[in-house]
Order: sequence, then C-alpha cells, then structure tokens
Amino acid sequence: MSLLTVKENIRMETNTNNDTITTAQPNDVVFDTKDLNLWYADTHALKDINLAINEKEVTAIIGPSGCGKSTYLKTLNRMVELVPTVRTTGEITYKGRSILDKSFKVEDLRTHVGMVFQKPNPFPKSIYDNIAYGPRVHGIRNKKILDEIVEKSLRGAYIWDEVKDRLKENAYGLSGGQQQRLCIARTLAIEPDVILMDEPTSALDPKSTLKIEDLVQELKKDYSIVIVTHNMQQAARISDRTAFFLDGEVVEFDVTDTIFTNPTDIRTEDYISGRFG
Ligand SMILES: Nc1ncnc2c1ncn2[C@@H]1O[C@H](COP(=O)(O)OP(=O)(O)O)[C@@H](O)[C@H]1O
Ligand SMILES: [Mg+2]
Repeated sequence: MSLLTVKENIRMETNTNNDTITTAQPNDVVFDTKDLNLWYADTHALKDINLAINEKEVTAIIGPSGCGKSTYLKTLNRMVELVPTVRTTGEITYKGRSILDKSFKVEDLRTHVGMVFQKPNPFPKSIYDNIAYGPRVHGIRNKKILDEIVEKSLRGAYIWDEVKDRLKENAYGLSGGQQQRLCIARTLAIEPDVILMDEPTSALDPKSTLKIEDLVQELKKDYSIVIVTHNMQQAARISDRTAFFLDGEVVEFDVTDTIFTNPTDIRTEDYISGRFG
C-alpha cells in the first residue's frame, strides 16, 4: 500500500461528513481570513483581520509580544476553542470551507493542519512511537505501513540519519534541536497540507535554528507554512510573505522583500528598524 493510499484511508476514516476537499493549485489561497475578531472575555485580541495564506508559500507573522500572533495561529486549527472565554466573529475558510462553522469537525481540520510549538514537546515514548502515534490514532495497525510512514516522516524532517539506529530509544534522549525536528516529523506523519509553527526555533541554539530554517525551505515545496517568529532576520530569510501584527491588528501584509525594504506604514518601518518591540 502506498503512502498516498494510506492517507486516503485516513481521510475516509476520519472524514465523517464525507465532504470532498479539492486540491488547490500552487499559489491558490489555502486559508482565507475575513474580518476576523476575537475576544478573550473583554480582551479584544484580534481586530478585523483580513489575511490570505497562499498555498506552498511560507507566510511569516511578526510583531511585538502580546500583539496576537499566537492567537491568530491558534484560530487556524481551532485550538483557541480550548479557552472557554473565547468569542469570535468573521470568517476563516480552509480551501473554501468555513472552519469556524462547527459542522467542520475539528479532528477533520487537524488532519489537514498540523502544528509545531515553541518548546519541542515530544511524547515520553520511543522515537518510533512518537511518529507512529498519529497514524495509529487514525487506525493504522499494519507494521510495514507504520515503518514506512515513520521512515518517510523522519526523512522529511531531516532527522532520519541521526535516529535510524535508535528508533526504540526514548525521544527525551534527543537534543532540543533534534526533538523539534522529531516534532516536525510527527506532524508530517499525518500528511497535512498546512504546518503552523509558533516560534519553533526560539528555544534552540543557532545551529539547530539554521537546520530548521533549511527544513522549512524544503517543506514549502509540499506544504503551506505559517510561521510566527520573534526574529525578524528569520522572517526575512525564510518567508515569501510577511504580516506585521500590532495590538491585534494587521498593520501591513505584503511580499517579504517589500515589508523589509519598502514598507508602506510608518509603524512597520519603526518595528523592523528596531525602534520598538
Ligand atoms: N488564554 C488566554 N486568556 C486570556 N487572554 C489571553 C489568552 N491568551 C492570550 N491572551 C491575550 O491576548 C493577547 C494576544 O496574545 P498572544 O496571541 O499570545 O500574543 P503573541 O503571540 O503575539 O505574543 C494578549 O493581550 C494576551 O494577554
Ligand atoms: Mg506568542
């Protein structure tokens, strides 16, 4: 059975409402956000957000602490729903389907949208079991197929050669940078279309950071990536488009070169030149 067939099986097993999701062409919009507002109780954390995330591009989200970057990222996979006081208005579509609509099952959404966090968070299990976890949850039991998924995912996250002889060892024995690549591999194992990354290198040393940056460049051939970063050089190095958030608003969203060399808004210019933040 090929990996593609495996994925189709996963889709068929989890896609309870039997909707077909059409595949978009490169540079089609994968996530479209229209007039999104979000409140945590009385805190207005996202204000009239309009943002189109293109397929097979890296979209960076930059801005000072507390401006709503993580909140926005977590609306894209509906993690914000875990906070009981959250209220949203507006719309987000994933390939044309409204995701804030409860008829879009969150488990279904998460087979398309994976997430990598600031601190590497492997499970206290073997390297192998970390990767096989998602496919197993989706009902895959066949050892040969699991082996294939584990290898492909670890290769995809540029960590196979470092771990291939120690797959049975606990993932906690890996370095921080290796753990973060393992977490990326774990995301790849569910074969998502979109990978959300929330400051994925902020806990890593410079060498591990560069490895992840190289990896992101590779991954965008097959995936759409949205990356929150505190590091403006990183945004400039690896993203195609950059959104500058300030106080819950998108001040400016453009091609990365334009944001960093010729921004329209004075607040963007002040931020990227280090005058605040
Ligand atoms: N779980 C939460 N409950 C209440 N307020 C929150 C919660 N998470 C974030 N906020 C508030 O929402 C705003 C945006 O936070 P966040 O999205 O984490 O910003 P960033 O990632 O840009 O640092 C901040 O004012 C923050 O205090
Ligand atoms: Mg954050």
